[in-house]
Amino acid sequence: MRNGMRRFSSVALSVVVVVVMVSAVYAQDDPCVSCHQGLTPGKVNDWKLSKHSGVNVTCSVCHGDKHKTDKDAARAEMPDERVCGNCHRKQFNEFAKGKHNFGWIAMNALPVTHVEPDELIEGGRGCGGCHSMGIKTEAQKKEQRDKGYRYQMNSCDECHTRHTFSKKEAADPRACQQCHMGYDHPQWEMWSSNKHGSRWFARQAGNLPEGASAPKCQDCHMPDGSHENRTAWGFLGVRLPLPDDPQWKADRVTILKALGVLNPETGEPTARLEAVKSADMVRLTEEAWRTEREKMIKVCSTCHSERYAREQLNMGDTMMMKADRLLADAIDIVAGLYKDGIIKKPEHYAFAYPDLLYFMHTGGGDINKLSYIDQVLCQMYMKHRMRTYQAFFHVNPDYAYWYGWEMMVKDLGEIKELAATMRATHQK
Ligand code: HEC
Ligand code: HEC
Ligand code: HEC
Ligand code: HEC
Ligand code: HEC
Ligand code: HEC
Ligand code: HEC
Ligand code: HEC
Repeated sequence: MRNGMRRFSSVALSVVVVVVMVSAVYAQDDPCVSCHQGLTPGKVNDWKLSKHSGVNVTCSVCHGDKHKTDKDAARAEMPDERVCGNCHRKQFNEFAKGKHNFGWIAMNALPVTHVEPDELIEGGRGCGGCHSMGIKTEAQKKEQRDKGYRYQMNSCDECHTRHTFSKKEAADPRACQQCHMGYDHPQWEMWSSNKHGSRWFARQAGNLPEGASAPKCQDCHMPDGSHENRTAWGFLGVRLPLPDDPQWKADRVTILKALGVLNPETGEPTARLEAVKSADMVRLTEEAWRTEREKMIKVCSTCHSERYAREQLNMGDTMMMKADRLLADAIDIVAGLYKDGIIKKPEHYAFAYPDLLYFMHTGGGDINKLSYIDQVLCQMYMKHRMRTYQAFFHVNPDYAYWYGWEMMVKDLGEIKELAATMRATHQK
């Protein structure tokens, strides 16, 4: 048995040696590599350090072989996820089912996207820098190319950055940082300064025994290496069916009107609800929500008692309910100003009602004409409500209070004050 094993390993070893030798020779003769060695040595070096260079996944496997000289670089293809999927079927299929695959669609589903500078969308900075996630259709790629932009065709390289395409890099929480940070989703800041993150950094520095528990993003959101990401609440923090609690239900209806998915006059669903549904932005049934929540409880319960975990996540839900109370109050005040003609309906708005998904804009070229009180309302929703509940899920005391809840209280105070002034000056 042991001899058999040894024989097997030495055969396997010689195969590996031969493959490595062949690919080393191959790499030297490869015209792509030899020309690019002088031209873009950084790229070639990263590729050489990658697993791919050892298994003959050469430049032309991903970029095709139509570009051959220094005159025809535009003929090099930019590989999308399907190219990776040819060899990494499992990760591709999981990714295709997950939320990241909706990044580009969700971004484009918002009305505001169409009035922002192209550099911030198809160009791949701003919204487009983080939302370059998801397998694009040929039509979407064409739209991008027609606007003069050639890159951002691949999502896999958002975590396994090119051309090292490393598994270890993607398993590092810093792989998520560039996108999951900042104004409306500061998961990086909340995690890195909470107990889970602090312990992770302490362990990295050798100040906790190796193997000491310290969950990072991937442990909770990509358990067992699954490439399907989805959480119970998600970003917008709303779901169907509406809650049983009558006050919360009423507040939710108000919020859904301000998100433009319910008609503020009739309460009927609008076309935007379909767009939101098609990008999987809200869980549409109690069961869909519960499935994700239970998965998470299972993760927490590998370290904490299940009871403890449930109590913690339930608090996130009840804080969301309290945050909704403040937000609905604020929406009602601003909506009252529209109703009484004190704020005029911006041309591109569907209704004379606040529209949170135009962000700080009117939706037209007249960028600065949105009333300031609308902008405060947008901030209350996008920045402070997000922080209030996300901080409970990411166990961060300061974000929950000072950057979240307390700022919502301040926004509401400001909105009341502004509305009173606007009414008084309007009367004059
Ligand atoms: C004789 C030199 C030469 C050879 C051989 C060559 N390239 Fe290039 N390649 C270039 C030059 C020059 C550019 C343009 C660089 C720039 O814009 O700075 C380029 C650009 C590229 C780009 C980027 C295109 C873009 O739009 O940004 C890719 C990808 C690429 N090459 C891949 C390959 C592959 C794959 C092969 C082999 C099939 C190959 N190259 C062979 C010289 C070469
Ligand atoms: C496993 C697939 C893969 C292999 C192998 C590969 N690339 Fe790339 N390369 C990519 C992806 C993905 C992009 C980004 C595409 C996008 O943004 O649309 C890219 C982009 C590029 C670019 C343009 C972007 C930039 O940063 O300049 C160059 C140049 C390039 N590759 C050169 C090479 C060279 C040279 C080799 C071989 C040494 C190589 N690539 C091998 C996947 C690959
Ligand atoms: C022609 C097949 C092929 C293509 C195309 C390909 N890969 Fe790979 N990839 C491999 C093989 C083979 C390995 C090595 C597997 C091993 O050693 O376990 C690998 C390894 C990897 C790894 C693991 C690296 C590590 O550190 O362990 C990642 C991540 C990866 N590829 C991502 C990608 C991405 C992203 C793309 C597309 C841009 C891509 N691959 C395209 C065949 C391919
Ligand atoms: C710094 C990176 C970044 C920028 C810039 C950015 N987003 Fe996002 N966006 C994200 C992340 C990360 C999420 C998921 C956050 C979460 O679930 O908490 C997200 C979520 C969303 C969602 C909700 C998706 C869903 O299914 O729930 C929409 C819609 C959206 N963004 C649109 C935009 C638009 C439009 C812009 C520009 C005006 C923009 N984003 C700018 C990173 C970014
Ligand atoms: C959100 C970040 C993220 C994206 C996007 C992503 N990956 Fe990964 N990938 C990871 C993480 C994290 C791991 C390590 C999982 C683990 O520890 O088992 C991984 C592991 C892998 C591995 C190695 C699997 C193994 O067990 O050796 C491959 C291959 C891979 N990914 C391919 C892909 C492909 C193909 C895509 C695009 C369809 C992709 N990944 C997109 C985060 C990502
Ligand atoms: C200890 C587990 C854990 C860790 C570590 C963790 N999260 Fe989360 N995350 C959660 C929970 C719990 C939720 C809420 C799930 C729900 O809706 O029931 C959540 C929600 C999210 C959401 C959806 C919006 C929101 O914030 O509620 C995103 C996006 C997210 N996490 C990203 C990250 C990123 C990025 C990291 C690392 C910087 C991270 N998470 C670290 C547990 C974790
Ligand atoms: C290139 C930017 C980018 C990177 C890197 C990135 N994400 Fe995301 N992530 C997004 C965007 C954009 C969304 C929202 C997509 C949507 O729902 O339409 C998102 C959504 C999510 C969600 C789903 C939230 C929900 O609505 O349920 C989770 C969980 C998540 N990301 C975790 C991670 C983790 C963990 C990492 C690192 C391993 C990571 N992401 C890396 C951009 C990124
Ligand atoms: C890999 C193990 C691990 C996982 C998974 C994990 N935690 Fe923790 N958690 C810890 C450790 C270790 C601490 C610090 C010691 C302690 O307080 O128990 C901690 C601390 C906490 C604290 C106390 C923070 C403080 O300020 O005292 C809360 C609350 C918490 N975790 C909630 C959760 C929730 C909710 C989940 C699931 C979404 C989760 N944890 C998942 C290991 C884990």
